[in-house]
Amino acid sequence: MCGIVGYVGPKQATPILMEGLRRMEYRGYDSAGVAIINGDGVKVKKAAGKLSVLVEKLRTETPRGTVGIGHTRWATHGAPTTPNAHPHLDRSGKIAVIHNGIIENAPVIKKALQNRGHVFKSETDTEVLAHLIGAYYEGNLEQAVAAALWDVAGAYGIAVISADEPDVLVAARNGSPLLVGVGEGEYFVASDASAILEHTRSVVYLDDGEMVVLTRDGYRVRNLTETHVEKPVNQIEWDLATIERGGFAHFMLKEIFEQPESLHNTVRGHLLEEEGSARLRGLNLSDEDYKRINRVIITACGTSWHAGLIGEYIFEEMARVPCEVEYASEFRYRNPIVDENTLVIAVSQSGETADTLAAVREAKRRGARTIGLVNVVGSTIAREVQGGLYLRAGPEIGVASTKAFNSQVAALAMVALKMARLRSLSLLQGRQFIEALQALPAQIAKVLERAPEVEKLADRFAEAHNALYLGRGVNFPVALEGALKLKEISYIHAEGYPAAEMKHGPIALIDENMPVVFIAPRDAVYAKIVSNIEEVKARGGKVIAIVTEGDSEIGRLAEAVFTIPPTHDLLTPILASVPLQLFAYYVAVRRGCNVDQPRNLAKSVTVE
Ligand code: AGP
Ligand code: GLU
Repeated sequence: MCGIVGYVGPKQATPILMEGLRRMEYRGYDSAGVAIINGDGVKVKKAAGKLSVLVEKLRTETPRGTVGIGHTRWATHGAPTTPNAHPHLDRSGKIAVIHNGIIENAPVIKKALQNRGHVFKSETDTEVLAHLIGAYYEGNLEQAVAAALWDVAGAYGIAVISADEPDVLVAARNGSPLLVGVGEGEYFVASDASAILEHTRSVVYLDDGEMVVLTRDGYRVRNLTETHVEKPVNQIEWDLATIERGGFAHFMLKEIFEQPESLHNTVRGHLLEEEGSARLRGLNLSDEDYKRINRVIITACGTSWHAGLIGEYIFEEMARVPCEVEYASEFRYRNPIVDENTLVIAVSQSGETADTLAAVREAKRRGARTIGLVNVVGSTIAREVQGGLYLRAGPEIGVASTKAFNSQVAALAMVALKMARLRSLSLLQGRQFIEALQALPAQIAKVLERAPEVEKLADRFAEAHNALYLGRGVNFPVALEGALKLKEISYIHAEGYPAAEMKHGPIALIDENMPVVFIAPRDAVYAKIVSNIEEVKARGGKVIAIVTEGDSEIGRLAEAVFTIPPTHDLLTPILASVPLQLFAYYVAVRRGCNVDQPRNLAKSVTVE
């Protein structure tokens, strides 16, 4: 789930591994550890909690050695304790394993091994795998790992070392990201490129079912049957500076402020002003294909799912094509009705979300066209869909998604525009939509200039225990997203609702302690939402409203208003979400929360 890094080369491994783990901290984790081939044994150091705890442990004794593995864990089996932290050893204590993911049949294997006298020190599935590899070991680590992997079911990225083969590191993946870093006389494995970027930009992305054997002399990729598989070496283009905080107090704030640029990058080169349409070559869809599509299904999780809901409004309104949005975790286990005329759009920042990936595979199996709107280049979803559009939002490190969300909305809007122009949308309407899209970066910049206003508001509401977010139409998903942001990082309970739905239940919650955030721009349902505000007001609720510049009506009802510039109705979510991101951020900071790494959350959820 979290981070894997491994090193084979001439240098001391511990500092390289620790630095790699530090680079991956943003992914969220609960414990960490390293194993180093040290003299004639394997030295393991691990600790529950943040990396600083491990650093402290290493201060008294730093294992020396030039081959090693490091891990940050996000627990799935057993609590986040030191014994459950990785690396785990086999029965002989000579083989060390780190693992991201879940070994589904671990209980069965564990029982069989226990019957043969194996004793386990942790509750993890990973230790079972370590023992299994040990049980197969007959002097060749590569073969023992391959043999063990034949027996296991589930998702994994693993890295394995053995004291008996002090120059070898074996790694494998199935369902969890893993890449090989190719340096000069030194080789790396990592679940995330940021862990090794300091050392090399040349990487080989492993695919599911593949293994790699690293030595100081080179690397060899194989799978469980063939001992050699040819793989291309890719160059990573982004640099480390782009993933540093760049002067902001938190990555999240930096990423919120990057939105004028990230949004511009998302649409750059795709908009055809003359034709009022979009050029989206990566989708691999011909005009005929677009016309044949009679149904769109958007599948995603969390914030990406909210972006999908906004997409639904845009697709149906502009392209007049029926569109559904489904949680990927539900889609994958239903019996979804899709055929070759269904376009299934997977939306994912990380491109590694296990449920979304499984939904893509299910859709493909059933013959649908699949496309991905993904931020991370080379990620698994990006490689498995039949076509796709990279969001180009840049690396998003704050666990709470912000800039990727707005890029997802913009990407969905471009796909909808393209489809709409091949159907019923007029040239003029297409051009107006493009104009509005192009104006967004500058408009967001203007909203961001007024961040201090939001900060003041946050001061007033930071002590709340609950909050309600309400919006209508295309801004209903914005309410959901605003509430999710607040929940995720400030731990305040918040709910998003369609504004009119409030009177069917949530209205019971409203009292003078309940902030109610309305997304109320001047659009087709403006008058309706003003009535909803009145209803809340009448019950003593404290209203904060996001309104369009020039609005004079809502100001007299609301405790506070924040204005956004006017835009195309279907694009207001992009502008309205920015103050809501800032609001969640400042409230969380006031409450002293760990904004970039909120408790219990991880940046990419690569397990079910
Ligand atoms: C966003 O703030 C969340 N942490 C989470 O809901 C996230 O959007 C979800 O896990 C999906 O991730 P993805 O976009 O990488 O697939
Ligand atoms: N399933 C393993 C565990 O609970 C790995 C978790 C992870 O991906 O970090 O230890």
